[in-house]
Amino acid sequence: MTFSVASIRKDFPMLAEKINDQPLVYLDSAASAQKPLQVIEKERQFLCHHYAAVHRGIHRLSSEATAMVENVRQQVADFIHAADSEEIVFVKGTTEGINLIANSYGHGFIKPGDNIIISQMEHHANIVPWHLLAGQIGFDIRILPIDHDGKLIFEQLDRLIDSRTRILSFTHMSNVLGTVNPAKQIIAYARQCAEQKAAQLHILLDGAQSIMHQMIDVQDLDCDFYVFSGHKLYGPTGIGVLYGKKALLNALPPWQGGGAMIDKVSMTLFEPAIINITYEKAPWRFEAGTPNIVGIIGLGEALRYVNNIGYQQISAHETTLMQYANQRLSTVNSLRLYGSDERQGVIAFNLGEHHAYDVGSFLDNYAIAIRTGHHCALPLMDFYQVPAMCRASLAVYTTKEEIDILVEKLQHIEKLLA
Ligand SMILES: Cc1ncc(COP(=O)(O)O)c(C=O)c1O
Repeated sequence: MTFSVASIRKDFPMLAEKINDQPLVYLDSAASAQKPLQVIEKERQFLCHHYAAVHRGIHRLSSEATAMVENVRQQVADFIHAADSEEIVFVKGTTEGINLIANSYGHGFIKPGDNIIISQMEHHANIVPWHLLAGQIGFDIRILPIDHDGKLIFEQLDRLIDSRTRILSFTHMSNVLGTVNPAKQIIAYARQCAEQKAAQLHILLDGAQSIMHQMIDVQDLDCDFYVFSGHKLYGPTGIGVLYGKKALLNALPPWQGGGAMIDKVSMTLFEPAIINITYEKAPWRFEAGTPNIVGIIGLGEALRYVNNIGYQQISAHETTLMQYANQRLSTVNSLRLYGSDERQGVIAFNLGEHHAYDVGSFLDNYAIAIRTGHHCALPLMDFYQVPAMCRASLAVYTTKEEIDILVEKLQHIEKLLA
């Protein structure tokens, strides 16, 4: 398929919307991407013609819906180059995926006095679950710092990892700075340090941002866990993926309990009752309750949509656009950019000393949607000593004209607020 941003835009009905009689300029895809008609239509078709509960019915609709859901599991495995579809757990999103690992791995493998490592550029989703767990179990959290360009100083892993380090959990791509961490290199280095220190280390990669911009090969990366959310990949909300190496997933205890994740349950009637439970193998052991069936179907269609365009074309388009944005934004006098010019996908900035909310509100009047605030990364705001930042983000449907509009309006706001 030859790449045409104009024809891609036709797939996204939201992009034709107007706000205050002006065409919408949607620069908030890192928060959540818009959805193509293909995904919307697939969900509608499924709901109209195929919907039924999965994994529990002998009737035709249920077994067909189950097959469709399991096909998407295989599709996800192929998409991220996992070795086996049983390495794919459906979760609500990145947040739930990290919470699942924190709770299951944490209660299974982390002991009082152990430690784990996260980085200074993490989204709160990769800080808070570990903090909650550390309070319950009594382990330390160590922080891998960043330099002023917003790059991880990963050589410090040699200092941070010791024989009691159990988890290294870090983001593949910063949702604020757009730094793409050299994950393969970092993981290899961490494994080398762990070997030297005889640490039983496992590595989780937060793919919430990277999945949208680059092809993922979990085997090549050699991470133990990788998590992402469907809604940032042009798919539905409420559905995401946790990848885990098969043997490791099967060694983990269940996290949530309920239907669909058990093998057998029996109970005695005398008191106190004895309840015996054996669990399903992974991934179903981690999928208690009725899953987000429609979301899974929509996710499968989103993967097909991205595959049809191809990551090579997506990445080429976004790289050109980012170079253009870096250059155009540098013409806004009082604009301060954060991170390095090698950023991908997102551009964080402030306009002079003006609060990001003020800038964001002005832009909103011009129908430009950006994200403002702390971006769920307060430690990063502390690092740059600002309360908040503006963030424009790019997607496959973003155009140079939209960057021009952003720049023009920022220059206008600069004058208004002077
Ligand atoms: C790097 C990163 N991690 C985790 C999350 C949480 O994702 P979700 O809210 O889809 O669970 C986000 C969301 O913006 C993110 O950017």
